[in-house]
Amino acid sequence: QTPVRVALLGCGTVGSEVARRLLGDAEELAARVGAPIELTGIAVRRPDKHPELPKELLTADASGLVESDVDVVIELIGGIEPVRGWLLTALRKGKSVVTGNKALLAEYGAELSAAASESGADLYYEAAVAGAIPLLRPLRESLAGDRITRVMGIVNGTTNFILSAMDSTGASYAETLDEATRLGYAEADPSADVDGYDAASKAAILASLAFHTRVTASDVYREGITGISASDIVAAQRLNRTVKLLAICERVAEGPEASESVSVRVHPVMIPRTHQLAGVGGAFNAVYVEAEAAGELMFYGQGAGGAPTASAVLGDLVAAARNRVAGGRGPRESMHAALPVRPMGET
Ligand code: HSE
Repeated sequence: QTPVRVALLGCGTVGSEVARRLLGDAEELAARVGAPIELTGIAVRRPDKHPELPKELLTADASGLVESDVDVVIELIGGIEPVRGWLLTALRKGKSVVTGNKALLAEYGAELSAAASESGADLYYEAAVAGAIPLLRPLRESLAGDRITRVMGIVNGTTNFILSAMDSTGASYAETLDEATRLGYAEADPSADVDGYDAASKAAILASLAFHTRVTASDVYREGITGISASDIVAAQRLNRTVKLLAICERVAEGPEASESVSVRVHPVMIPRTHQLAGVGGAFNAVYVEAEAAGELMFYGQGAGGAPTASAVLGDLVAAARNRVAGGRGPRESMHAALPVRPMGET
């Protein structure tokens, strides 16, 4: 059986876990896919810094690896450029792309998706939102026949880790941020977490899929947690509440003609301690989805960290590889609606 050839771009917290599992579980993955999965190269900034990986796989030439004879490109580097160019090249050449790059998808998801549609390539990005939790596939596939009205929840593990620790132990903000970084939850620049940019990118991706309309990160109202003090947490406790950073994406009908828009926002919320989201601790994520026919659904699990996020990446890889073996296609996105995003503050 012809192998499915895979290139891995990036070998940080998630990438190294993906490489380890790809190499260690090769036989099991091959059985699930129906063909061997061959990791042909790993692009890293400094090949000499990865003694744990087979030397012959490492390269500093990510662009050359993308252009080489591979079927699937897994991208776990992050950031917009030069990654955007590499992934567009891969998709235009009909290579499947699996990525966890939320910032790129929140800004250029439409461009990547169009490139995938034109060439018939697959674009999968389950790892971009809520780590291990299968959430994007349900939105794109399982709920594609329903009408989603609201997606709301905790989508950033680092800030949830910090807020939970501040609430339960009174630990300082700085201490818990260090711990979140050590555990591999925080972004390379943790301001992406604490200022809400990471959650805003995820909210844009969720709103785009849920409402079949294009929402970019700059459309999302955003407030982070840097202004939350220990006394705010105590004040919330006195009201029998706790503080959580929530992403809220809603379909809103307004005006006499009931024209629709979407409201997409990320900000700290004081929620009653009896609410299910109040019990979500550590780097866990939890997302409610409300749909007209399905009613309320809740998705819960590990939203950050190497192994949980690698699970989502490998699931996407298996799906993309199966499609190549069986001649199938990944889920198509249908961005047919053009709903305006309602600026925060307007009623
Ligand atoms: N820094 C992110 C978080 C990683 O803390 O949720 C997962 O996207």
